[in-house]
Amino acid sequence: MKYNFDEVIDRKDTNSMKWDRDTLIEMFDEPEALPFWVADMDFKTAPAIIEAVVKGAEHGIYGYSKRPDSYFEAIINWTRRRFGWEIEREWIEYCPGIVPAVNYLIQAFCIPGDKIIIQEPVYYPFRRSIENNGCHVVNNGLKFNGEYYEIDFQDLEEKAKDPRVTMFILCSPHNPVSRVWTKEELIKIGNICLENDILIISDEIHNDLVYSDYKHTIFPSLKEEFAMNSITCTAPSKTFNLAGMQASNIIIPNSKLMERFRVILEKNNIGHQNPLSIIATEAAYNHGEQWLKELLKYLEENIEFIHKYLGENLPKARMIKPQATYLGWIDLREYEENGLKLERILAKKGKVALDGGTWFGQGGEGFMRINFACPRTLLEEGLSRICKAVNGI
Ligand SMILES: Cc1ncc(COP(=O)(O)O)c(C=O)c1O
Repeated sequence: MKYNFDEVIDRKDTNSMKWDRDTLIEMFDEPEALPFWVADMDFKTAPAIIEAVVKGAEHGIYGYSKRPDSYFEAIINWTRRRFGWEIEREWIEYCPGIVPAVNYLIQAFCIPGDKIIIQEPVYYPFRRSIENNGCHVVNNGLKFNGEYYEIDFQDLEEKAKDPRVTMFILCSPHNPVSRVWTKEELIKIGNICLENDILIISDEIHNDLVYSDYKHTIFPSLKEEFAMNSITCTAPSKTFNLAGMQASNIIIPNSKLMERFRVILEKNNIGHQNPLSIIATEAAYNHGEQWLKELLKYLEENIEFIHKYLGENLPKARMIKPQATYLGWIDLREYEENGLKLERILAKKGKVALDGGTWFGQGGEGFMRINFACPRTLLEEGLSRICKAVNGI
């Protein structure tokens, strides 16, 4: 291994939201909780990115910036190389994050009162964004088959028929249940949405973080009609630990949809990009591949470590095997079915900060989400705290 993912880097007092004392008090009522919640990594990003950003910072002028041709080429090449999807420069828009993009997309394509399908348990800002924009959530809840999560297509077909449903927010790969959707599943979703005139927003922020036995398919790459009826969000943020840089790629092959989206961006004066994030994005996509390969290997070892640790120390707990993402979905229902109680026990007794299952909506009760993108020693300490707290129930 060329990169040292075992290095423990002190993030306290570095303005890290994940590690900030006041935030831990606000979120968990526990300043000493060891954090495994919000989705960023406790690893330094790839050296090539650090070098490029340092060089950019040394210039010393951080004025309004423009995305150069090379920025678009980096995104286009990455998308072709990693996913075999050929995209054009005109299809790529910028947004300072995918959550802001989801909000702008709702504003561009829905009116208050519209209904939007999501699949809970799912990344909680989806529900918040829908409701904050005056729309209603329609939940096509995922089904747990005892091993992994599946889509309830019968329910989806029924719900999609409602004429007030205008949008489907797909989480692909899915956070928190860590599913990589198969081509067959994606085609079924795509066809149901086409038949019912429902626009698909495919949030693929985790699409680079996919483990060896699985292959991610970019949704619009499946067929032209899907590309014309969807908007795909990708980013270097999760992949390279650049979330704070706030850069994401909103890919819209349908020029009419792009026009409507741009109206909203202009209305909100979105477009100028942080100069260092331009540099970081380009460096990540052009020079980060080897680092990513090693990162994935380390994360896979962390997954093995968690399975083994829980097997030995908390035998009735189980982490659903992650197919993608560095987020593990742990089933603790055999110990405590009341989600809020479980969350409190972990925070107060365990002094460990995890995302509570209930945060993700229906189907989350009795589960906890662990962010395992951290050095193994830290992970071990976290697991030890989890086991102690849960064994004490
Ligand atoms: C599915 C999903 N979408 C979006 C985000 C956040 O995106 P951003 O920081 O670009 O707004 C996350 C972060 O965890 C996520 O899991």
